[in-house]
Amino acid sequence: MNKNIGAALILALGTFALGPVLAGNDRLTEFSNQGTIGNTRHNLTQRPTDGSTAINAGMMEAYRNDYQQVCVYCHTPHAANTNINAPLWNRTVRTTTYTLYTQQTLSQDATQPGPNSLTCLSCHDGQTAVDSIVNMPGSGGYNGALALNPSAGTMESLLDTWRLNGGDPAAVTHQGLNSDPNSETSCLGCHSPGKTSAATDFTVFALGTDLTNDHPVGVKLPAGSDWNVPSGTFQNIRFFDKDGDNRPDKNELRFYDSGDGFEVECASCHDPHGVPGTTSKFLPTFLRVTADGSQICLTCHVK
Ligand code: HEC
Ligand code: HEC
Ligand code: HEC
Ligand code: HEC
Ligand code: HEC
Repeated sequence: MNKNIGAALILALGTFALGPVLAGNDRLTEFSNQGTIGNTRHNLTQRPTDGSTAINAGMMEAYRNDYQQVCVYCHTPHAANTNINAPLWNRTVRTTTYTLYTQQTLSQDATQPGPNSLTCLSCHDGQTAVDSIVNMPGSGGYNGALALNPSAGTMESLLDTWRLNGGDPAAVTHQGLNSDPNSETSCLGCHSPGKTSAATDFTVFALGTDLTNDHPVGVKLPAGSDWNVPSGTFQNIRFFDKDGDNRPDKNELRFYDSGDGFEVECASCHDPHGVPGTTSKFLPTFLRVTADGSQICLTCHVK
């Protein structure tokens, strides 16, 4: 075991009583949130691309394969996962039945999340390790038979075959955003209150498979005067075309049709690469439209 991993393990096991440095509702991030996804929390190499200091990269090395590329945790240029209708998708997507939002005020039954939510849920539902990808960097890193038909055990062993700079692959465990902080395979083993004090609390980001307490996905715009109606249509996207260029831009909220009509999905409201606001910083929480004054809500809802 090398020194870095040893130190990380000690920190993982230690429960320091100092309390979290950043409170759970604190939006602070060590990344600059500017310019590219490389400077956001969606950079799982933990090495910002703007040249600022690595984010405790040493400590993180033992908990996910460090592929040293930003996009590869989600996309691959070749041999993508075509089981899901998402752009050059490189992640394992498990067949999961989600518990849907069911308040009786809803005017329709929500349908199961479509591809434009399943991409996000492939990390945020905690069922799959964040480094679980179909095509790992370098030669020999592809095993379609295993990766496209995942079953927990075999997937682990595939990920175990990857190594960085000749390092010991067995020293790396593959963790997910499992909502149980006591699970041996959860990132929340550090990133939750009472665990490693230096690690940000991620509890609220671990959505799980129960979506009853989340804004509904798999829902269409109901008829009636309670709604603004988007003007633009492009392929399977209907969108609020703010600049009238007939293209769904990243700062334009949208509905996706994956067979059940135009529906709200995770990517209706969020762009996982970050969207600039009025300052040079990205809008918080990867939103396409700011939540200031509830502008995002009022784009769809007339309230
Ligand atoms: C954390 C996961 C994640 C990472 C990392 C990521 N993407 Fe994406 N990307 C997505 C998702 C999810 C979509 C589909 C969004 C949707 O449903 O509309 C997407 C869509 C795209 C698209 C097509 C639609 C669009 O938004 O333009 C391009 C091009 C793209 N990504 C490029 C990149 C590049 C280049 C990188 C690395 C610099 C990258 N992505 C990193 C998740 C990611
Ligand atoms: C490769 C895994 C992965 C994928 C795919 C992914 N995320 Fe994340 N996301 C993370 C991680 C890791 C974090 C940081 C901590 C956490 O959420 O536990 C994060 C953080 C976030 C945050 C909180 C950001 C903040 O600063 O408050 C939001 C919002 C988010 N993701 C939304 C999405 C959406 C929406 C999608 C799909 C369009 C998506 N993510 C796809 C891994 C992923
Ligand atoms: C050994 C404890 C430990 C484990 C396990 C761990 N992390 Fe971390 N992580 C840290 C520390 C410490 C930091 C730096 C402090 C901070 O920013 O939270 C950090 C930072 C991060 C950040 C950047 C937070 C920011 O500043 O925006 C992300 C994203 C992240 N970790 C994701 C993950 C993911 C995904 C996993 C599971 C694969 C994971 N971590 C597992 C300790 C850990
Ligand atoms: C109707 C718009 C909308 C949809 C759809 C949506 N979100 Fe969000 N999401 C938001 C807003 C707004 C916030 C910011 C909440 C805040 O500031 O507290 C947010 C916050 C988050 C966060 C940060 C945690 C938090 O509560 O602050 C994560 C992670 C996240 N969303 C993931 C997802 C995923 C995954 C999906 C799909 C299952 C999704 N979102 C669907 C609007 C949406
Ligand atoms: C992309 C469009 C869109 C955005 C943005 C959006 N919503 Fe919704 N919302 C919908 C749709 C469509 C429904 C389903 C309505 C129905 O079937 O009755 C819905 C449902 C709801 C419901 C449940 C209503 C019920 O009857 O149970 C609430 C509450 C809600 N939204 C609040 C919000 C808030 C708060 C925000 C901002 C954080 C927001 N929405 C942003 C489209 C949107």
